[in-house]
Amino acid sequence: MSIEQLAETAQAMVARGKGIIAIDESTATIAKRFAGVGVENTEESRRAYREMLLTTPKLGDYISGAILYDETIRQATKVGVPFTKVMMQNGVIPGIKVDKGTQPLAGFQGELVTEGLDGLRDRLKEYYGLGARFAKWRAVINIGEDIPSGTCIEANSHALARYAALCQEQGLVPMVEPEVLMDGDHDIGTCYEVTEVVLRSLFDALYQQNVMLEGTILKASMVVSGKDSDEQASVEEVAESTLMCLKTAVPAILPGIVFLSGGQSDEDATAHLDAMNRMGPNPWPLSFSYGRAMQSAALKIWAQDTAANVAKAQAVVYERAKDNGLAALGQWVRGRA
Ligand code: 13P
Repeated sequence: MSIEQLAETAQAMVARGKGIIAIDESTATIAKRFAGVGVENTEESRRAYREMLLTTPKLGDYISGAILYDETIRQATKVGVPFTKVMMQNGVIPGIKVDKGTQPLAGFQGELVTEGLDGLRDRLKEYYGLGARFAKWRAVINIGEDIPSGTCIEANSHALARYAALCQEQGLVPMVEPEVLMDGDHDIGTCYEVTEVVLRSLFDALYQQNVMLEGTILKASMVVSGKDSDEQASVEEVAESTLMCLKTAVPAILPGIVFLSGGQSDEDATAHLDAMNRMGPNPWPLSFSYGRAMQSAALKIWAQDTAANVAKAQAVVYERAKDNGLAALGQWVRGRA
């Protein structure tokens, strides 16, 4: 696979006014989301839910790609059209989550390391054959008393870089995701410091593993106040801090940065992205790769009647995609919907 092809895919993932929908919840995570709205978690309910999302009419107007889970990339619509085919017909690039989740980091209380490198080359080969053109790996960094440790950051960066190099070898664009969690009562300054160290460590590791940044996408967490902090930063503060942190630690050659929503409200996730783009021009396109902030409103409606509410839920998916697509241009109008 040439770097030109990887770069082309990466650029298409962050095409103007478009972003990504993350629907790569593991079976355990989707179980939690379904339990919250009273939907039974079966292979068929997961399939039907993902069919509703992926067959949203005109999804490709604002969505460039979707991240799938191992089970989902093998599934098809009720009438038997593979999801990857539906996506490609709508101009939505198939992506795949390839990490195997987090485990406690031995010897480091409260810290996690992401696993999944064993056998990854063969899995990537298979996913490419199934139609995937990009792959996501999520590392999780916790903020707390005396954490994160340098060891935790380095272990996660090393794994991200190893996975990214394997992806490029197999023709998939790596979407590297070092998520600094919002959990805790820390202030936004602490989140800034941790995020900067994490990003510097990641780009150092990518350099050491010969990862070509022209064919890589960063999935970043925003610089925000801890969820339980008494002082919540304003939209402008979040946008300014996030931009400054990214500008200091992320090379300009990267084709684009997409954000996770991480537990922010739908409105906050959109407002923050919009504010950052209004503050541009920025060195890279800044867009979204939201899971919860793209899905939660639609999931609630779908859950009320999974047979009758498909079109209603899809209308909400489209609205969220449109709002976030406009925010990726700095053109979102609050309260328009
Ligand atoms: P959230 O937007 O719900 O944080 O999910 C994005 C994601 O893919 C996390 O890995």
